[in-house]
Formats: sequence, structure tokens, C-alpha cells
Amino acid sequence: MSYARITGTGAYLPEKVLTNADLERMVETSDVWIRERTGILERHVAADGETTCDLAEAAARCALEAAGIEPREIDLIIVATTTPNRVFPSTACLLQARLGIHGCPAFDVQAVCTGFVYALAVAEKFIRTGAARCALIVGAETLSRILDWSDRSTCVLFGDGAGALVLEASETPGVLSTHLHADGHYEHLLTVPAGISEHPERFRSGEATVQMKGNEVFRMAVNTLGRMVTEVLHANGLHKSDIDWLIPHQANIRIIKATARKLGLPMERVVVTVDRHGNTSAASIPLALDAAIRDGRVQPGATLLMEAFGGGFTWGAALVRF
Ligand code: ACO
Repeated sequence: MSYARITGTGAYLPEKVLTNADLERMVETSDVWIRERTGILERHVAADGETTCDLAEAAARCALEAAGIEPREIDLIIVATTTPNRVFPSTACLLQARLGIHGCPAFDVQAVCTGFVYALAVAEKFIRTGAARCALIVGAETLSRILDWSDRSTCVLFGDGAGALVLEASETPGVLSTHLHADGHYEHLLTVPAGISEHPERFRSGEATVQMKGNEVFRMAVNTLGRMVTEVLHANGLHKSDIDWLIPHQANIRIIKATARKLGLPMERVVVTVDRHGNTSAASIPLALDAAIRDGRVQPGATLLMEAFGGGFTWGAALVRF
């Protein structure tokens, strides 16, 4: 069986930047509160009419260029998103058409902030079994469209963006292991409690927005991600010191620091983008990975631990040799 290797990454952030000072003018909050409780300084917000697929396409083209791959070589497309363009077709199908690709499987995965790890795990299995040789995986979100901009407990947290990577069959590893989990019993702690089929009237009137019991989610995220680290190390027979870079989902700097402490990693070995991007849900890990590859921090041969926790609850991790 082939391994699956990352051969190119890409990123795209909308032009418009919303700072904490901007939010001070919109809701009763302060730059100090947001910075101290979350680590966020600013986030990007999609322009009117700019869609998740627009963001995904820009990031995907960037990843294809980095990998030196023509769109026609792609034989699998997975988009991780909670904010798809439409009910259907999937954003992956819309992206496929934009890229001029015909015939390969294309589908979305929805695991909220863990979506990218889920997409990577699925694509890796396609490649390991020979069902695909060259996969395009994108995490893309326009979370700004499902926020209540008068709710200070959520609107300060999230941002829009997209990150992408190309995963190719290879004789050398690659993705070393992936670990996916979910527990739907916690759906009430973090949800958009309306949709196409449940409370469609609220969905149609635009009242379907993110609701979160932040402090309860926080506690669960810290504990669960701590256990996740142990699971990944144990599964691979590795020690904490074998991890070169932690590339975490970017929800809150305090959650990220707790996971780094669990790993015994200094913050210089943790890729942090939450300060500039906010929480971009499924896009946050590929955005962080792209940033660290492009600025030269992540070098070939490095061992990367990616992990995420999000609505569902869902959580997961991937151990990757770059
Ligand atoms: N500005 C000022 N005050 C605020 C704000 C704000 N923007 N938001 C809340 N507060 C107030 C609250 O009303 C509360 O006031 P009170 O004590 O008078 O009642 C106080 O600040 C403390 O609120 P907490 O919610 O307890 O604050 P906490 O320290 O837990 O931080 C936060 C909140 C940042 C949301 C944190 O709990 C968190 O990061 N949670 C986890 C988020 C996460 O990881 N989500 C999963 C991924 S997201 C996804 O899947 C879509």
C-alpha cells in the first residue's frame, strides 16, 4: 500500500479585516477582554457576495501551484466546511467545476472545527487503498454568515478563510496515523439550532446562528485534547520529544497552550494564527500549516501533530511526517 504525503499547501483570507477595536463599536466588549480570554487580535471577514467556494478555489489554486500539479491530475476532492455555498450541490462539486475537473469523486465533510482532520483521514484512506493517487483537500468557511453579530459571547471568536493541501501517493510516509472521534450527546453545548429540516422557519428568517456554552466547551476541549495527545503518541510508539511541531485548531490561545504543556512543547514549536485569523473552523489547521511551511518553520522530515475539537462534539488528530 502507498503512503499519503503532503506535496503542496495553499491559503486564502478575505481582504476585509475586522479588528477588536471594530468589535468594540458593535457590541459591549473590549480589546483587552478578547485578547486575554482568546488571544485574538483580528479576523478576516468575507465581502458581500464572496462565498465559501470563492475562498476554497483561491486556496486550492495556491496549493496546486505549490505541488506543481495540474487540476486534471486530481482524482479526489474533499471540502471540509460547515458553511457550504448551498444545500446542494456540495461545495466540493462547485469547486471541481471551477477547476475544470471532470469525473473524479467530490464531496463535503461536515465535522465543524474538526472537519479538516476528518477530510485528511478520509483522503488518506483513499490513497492508502489505491482508490486515489492525488487528492485535493480544502477546509473553507464563511462563519461570519452564521454569527449573531449582536451576541458578544460568539461574534468576537470567529473568522472566514480557506486552507488547502494536495495529498499524493508516495513510497515514503506521509500521514503516519489519524484518529477520529465524536460524541453527539454534547450537541446542545455548541450548535446552530436550526436548519433545513429542523426549525426551517428560523433558518429561512436568518435566525440560525452559532450558540455556545463557551466555558463548558472550553473545559471539554482542554481535557479531550490532552487525552488525544496521549492516544497519538501511544499509537505510534513515540515520545513527546519526537513531535517537532504542534499545528492545532485555532479556537483559543489558552486551549492551545494547555495542549502544548501536555506535550512538553515550548510555544516556539507551536504554530499560532488565532491572533490574526480568529477561529476559522475547518480552515484553521490548513491555514496554520501553510503559514508555517511558507515562512520556513516547517521543514521536510519534520513530525507534525495536528489536532482539533469542535461542534458535535467531534475531535481528532493526525500525525504527519512532512
Ligand atoms: N466581551 C466581554 N465580556 C464577555 C464577552 C465579550 N466578548 N463574552 C462573554 N463575556 C463575559 C460573560 O458574559 C461573562 O460575564 P459574567 O461573569 O458577568 O457572566 C464573562 O465574560 C466570562 O464568560 P465565560 O464564558 O465564562 O468566559 P471564558 O473565560 O470561558 O471565555 C470563551 C469565553 C473565549 C468563549 C472560552 O470559553 C472558549 O474559548 N471556549 C471554547 C471555544 C471552542 O473551543 N469552541 C470549539 C470550537 S468552535 C466550533 O466547533 C464551531
